[in-house]
Amino acid sequence: MKDKLIKIESEFDSAYKEAKDLNLLEEIRLKFLGKKGSLNYVMADFKQVPNEMKKEIGQLVNKLKNKIEEKIAEKKQELEDKQNEAEINNAKKIDLTLPAKTNVGSLHPRTLILKEVEDVFVSMGFVVEDGFEIETEYNNFDAVNVPANHPARDMQDTFWLDNGQVLKTHTSAAQNRILKKYGPHCKAIFPGRCFRNESLDAGHENTFFQMEGIVVDENVSVSNLLYFMKEMLKGVFKKDINVRLRPGFFPFTEPSFELDASCAFCGGKGCSSCGGSGWIELCPCGMIHPNVLRNAGIDPDKYSGFAFGLGADRLVMLKTGLNDIRHLNSGNVSLLKQFGIKL
Ligand code: DAH
Repeated sequence: MKDKLIKIESEFDSAYKEAKDLNLLEEIRLKFLGKKGSLNYVMADFKQVPNEMKKEIGQLVNKLKNKIEEKIAEKKQELEDKQNEAEINNAKKIDLTLPAKTNVGSLHPRTLILKEVEDVFVSMGFVVEDGFEIETEYNNFDAVNVPANHPARDMQDTFWLDNGQVLKTHTSAAQNRILKKYGPHCKAIFPGRCFRNESLDAGHENTFFQMEGIVVDENVSVSNLLYFMKEMLKGVFKKDINVRLRPGFFPFTEPSFELDASCAFCGGKGCSSCGGSGWIELCPCGMIHPNVLRNAGIDPDKYSGFAFGLGADRLVMLKTGLNDIRHLNSGNVSLLKQFGIKL
């Protein structure tokens, strides 16, 4: 029986070395310690062991059993630790900071630009007002000094409604309401959607966005207008941008100007974005016509103001390099994502 125990021990020692995983280890445990395992098997012969040797053999069996149990417990711990470590290493390869794979949308580039411009003006003390999309003929035309048979009514290709109202052709349509609301101390911007019955091409849409701005107070001058426009451009393009005024014509301003910005891409040297001229036509503007102030109950002899009508879509195109205004209303998701992120 002693020989058998020695044999079992050496069998265990070599099997134990091969225990590379927890399954194998369990097999080994069963093979040596299980009900039908080797130790129980030799114990069946214990009765035949002569009495004087029973104590010694009994001790040997217990010693071997303890050794096998200890070794197996030790190995089990070691294999479990290894397995945990492998799992942790694997987990490290999963980047939990990656965004979930869902179709997350983005803000429309126009929304982003408008917000940016609004933030700049708000930081300079302007209020942001809303305009209506359906306007009275009076607000859209008469109140801003466009008389009944003025060619501007045709120029703006108006969509007329059956009830005589219009889809507003410009954000200037809200000037009268806002001037009445704030009176002669007014600094407001009012972005909004405008509509004109235009033939569509890369530069023209029937539905487009403008951002109107007005400042009225005592002694407001053209230099105030230039200051605010330069600050706005600095906020949007994150650098100083030169501007220049050219004479323009609008019934609601006197004098009227076209404001050009020095090309943000080439710094004024001339490139494809500015058609080689170094200047980009940005924003019609001017000193508010006395009649417009009068129509809102403001005394033009005491107060003056400037107004501008920024083409918001044009600004988006400038900032994104987009060369066709029609993309902005197209609902083309990949394009919107591209520019939504780029801005
Ligand atoms: N409302 C004009 C248009 O859409 C743009 C404009 C020009 C607005 C001059 C102004 C301005 O406030 O002063 O054509």
